[in-house]
Amino acid sequence: MLVLGIETSCDETAAAVVGDTPPYIRSNIVFSQLAEHRPYGGVVPEVAARAHLAHLDPVIERALAAAGIGFGEVGAIAATGGPGLIGGVIVGVTEAKAIAFARGVPFVAVNHLEGHALSARLAAPVEFPYLLLLVSGGHCQLQIVEGVGRYRRLGTTIDDAAGEAFDKGAKLLGLGYPGGPAIERAAQSGDARRAPLPRPMLGREDCNFSFSGLKTALRLAVEKRGGRLSQADRADLAASLQESIVASLADRTAQAIAQFLDRYPEGKTLVVAGGVAANNALRSRLEQLAAKSGLGFVAPPVALCTDNGAMIAWAGIERLKAGLVDGLDFAPRPRWPLDPAAVPVRGAGVKA
Ligand code: KG4
Ligand code: ZN
Repeated sequence: MLVLGIETSCDETAAAVVGDTPPYIRSNIVFSQLAEHRPYGGVVPEVAARAHLAHLDPVIERALAAAGIGFGEVGAIAATGGPGLIGGVIVGVTEAKAIAFARGVPFVAVNHLEGHALSARLAAPVEFPYLLLLVSGGHCQLQIVEGVGRYRRLGTTIDDAAGEAFDKGAKLLGLGYPGGPAIERAAQSGDARRAPLPRPMLGREDCNFSFSGLKTALRLAVEKRGGRLSQADRADLAASLQESIVASLADRTAQAIAQFLDRYPEGKTLVVAGGVAANNALRSRLEQLAAKSGLGFVAPPVALCTDNGAMIAWAGIERLKAGLVDGLDFAPRPRWPLDPAAVPVRGAGVKA
């Protein structure tokens, strides 16, 4: 069976065709709205919604053409149903429902976070349960993935997400948007020891994250240099910011590994997913950590880490296999926690 996946929850308009047998990914088209948002230094929801509307039809056409199929060969439509910028989610869900209705095929509303969570199983044969570090521009969570639609949250951020920390840091350093890749590039020629920054939450017993203090520390470090940064300053601060974020993520993940193995001694795998999982310093730190804990480590290829339609189509396939289909009355959700039973955390900017 071939599933068309549609992703419109942030600033990528994406569509993909994925099958339930190898080679799973038949096409994976991502139109990045970067150019439209860059003048504002971040994603503008209204601009994103309009851009999705303008680009979604051609992106779907390209995905079908690249897979060498027409609508007649699509067995089901999966679309991100939330969480995300609601204008964009509405565009994707409405389009998906219309196609599903016109073609008489099932419609699956996919939680964007579940798309990231299950992307590991599209990349490699990962068995449930596994421990997931989900790090993106909007989310920063540690979840035990017990099965399709079954999650246990171990930790979340009490303010910013890891990707936000990269993005806001890059803005402070004048490195442009999006920040993650820019920081990673600048960090290559920098020395973190020349510009030490705090490492948030280290050693705490819970598995939560916090990055707003780090952002303030970076701002103060920039101000201390009179606001004028040399190339070398920029590189050192970028290296230090990356080191602090990676150290904090690794420390929180180590804490979560202990809790995961406590609950599931047979657990075998640590998975990282989401846009920040593209970061090489983070990947190698987590790989070491997993090895030390006797766990395997899976990080999907970069194209499956940042937002894409293939992970949504794949999550759709996993849900269909589990007998989960949605009605055309599904209402797009701006918020949609993976583990609704998780105890809310307290913090200045708690999201979900
Ligand atoms: O998953 P994603 O594409 O969109 C969301 O669902 O948020 O993640 C985007 C985030 C951005 O904050 C971006 O700066 C970050 O992922 N990112 C990176 C890297 N590539 C993308 N962060 C660190 N290092 C990278 N190489
Ligand atoms: Zn995402």
